[in-house]
Amino acid sequence: MENPYQPIKTKIQEVTRETPNIKTFVLEPEEPLHFKAGQFIQLTVPELGEAPFTPSSSPYEKEKIKVTIMETGTVTSALHSLTPGGVVGIRGPYGKEYSLSDFEDKEILIVGGGVGLAPLRSLFFALVHDIEKYKRVLFCYGAKTPSDIVYKNAVLQDWHKINPERIHFRITVDEGDENWKGKVGLVTYTLDNLNEEIESIEESVAVVCGPPIMMKFVTMKLLDIGYKWNNIFLSMEKNMSCGIGKCGHCQMGKFLVCRDGPVFTYDKIKDFPTIWD
Ligand SMILES: Cc1cc2nc3c(=O)[nH]c(=O)nc-3n(C[C@H](O)[C@H](O)[C@H](O)COP(=O)(O)OP(=O)(O)OC[C@H]3O[C@@H](n4cnc5c(N)ncnc54)[C@H](O)[C@@H]3O)c2cc1C
Ligand code: FES
Repeated sequence: MENPYQPIKTKIQEVTRETPNIKTFVLEPEEPLHFKAGQFIQLTVPELGEAPFTPSSSPYEKEKIKVTIMETGTVTSALHSLTPGGVVGIRGPYGKEYSLSDFEDKEILIVGGGVGLAPLRSLFFALVHDIEKYKRVLFCYGAKTPSDIVYKNAVLQDWHKINPERIHFRITVDEGDENWKGKVGLVTYTLDNLNEEIESIEESVAVVCGPPIMMKFVTMKLLDIGYKWNNIFLSMEKNMSCGIGKCGHCQMGKFLVCRDGPVFTYDKIKDFPTIWD
């Protein structure tokens, strides 16, 4: 029987430093690994351990996978020390993808904070691939300082040229510097006057990914503005182990985040006491 924990040998092709503590890795698995936006993978550092990440590349890019990783502890530090030519393992993809057919003909609000932009980038590329299916995309992103903006050139310039009719951006930093000409304020601030961009808030869907505290305040504000519980999609980055619904590490009430998530609509999880931990 096939071992479900056996990772695919994967070569690191390229490493890009995005911010002082975030790097993007271009990975080339020995066997193709096709994921859909919203799903995650387990990345193994040989003889050390593994950790879950959501690919940041387009799900339509078949040969390579990009993963954007913030250095926080043992596995992520080991990953940050690797260079092109290094070898890691990948297993997956796991979890459920966004049901993009439910987003069709809708106005889509994306709200990201910090490294939470990584999974959202993959979703963004999936939306861009079929942009005519969606009414409009408003992408709001906040970083601590201008140097903490992930994919800086794309976020501040390149993505704005993709489809200026349908895709708009609101970018903010908590604290500017002498060169920053953009908005200053927490990411919740980008949600002010949302009705200037979103015609029907009642029908719009909001996808949120970032640190738990950011997701909490963004969700509260979205509810205030008039978003429906079942139209707010949240990425739950709970501690994981097996990734395949066996160990129970990622239990959240009746759900296993690795199997039933990692993305949930707010109505499904709003009563769990640990939702924002
Ligand atoms: C589905 C999913 C997708 C993810 N996608 C990304 C991604 O695209 N990019 C990215 O940088 N990170 C992502 N993460 C978070 C990433 O998995 C953790 O940062 C990583 O597991 C930390 O491992 P470590 O060994 O370096 O840290 P550890 O040594 O285990 O811990 C260091 C610190 O990080 C905290 N921590 C550990 N695991 C997590 C976790 N899962 N979430 C939040 N904090 C944690 C610990 O409480 C501790 O404070 C994702 C997590 C999940 C569950
Ligand atoms: S990580 Fe093991 S059940 Fe979810």
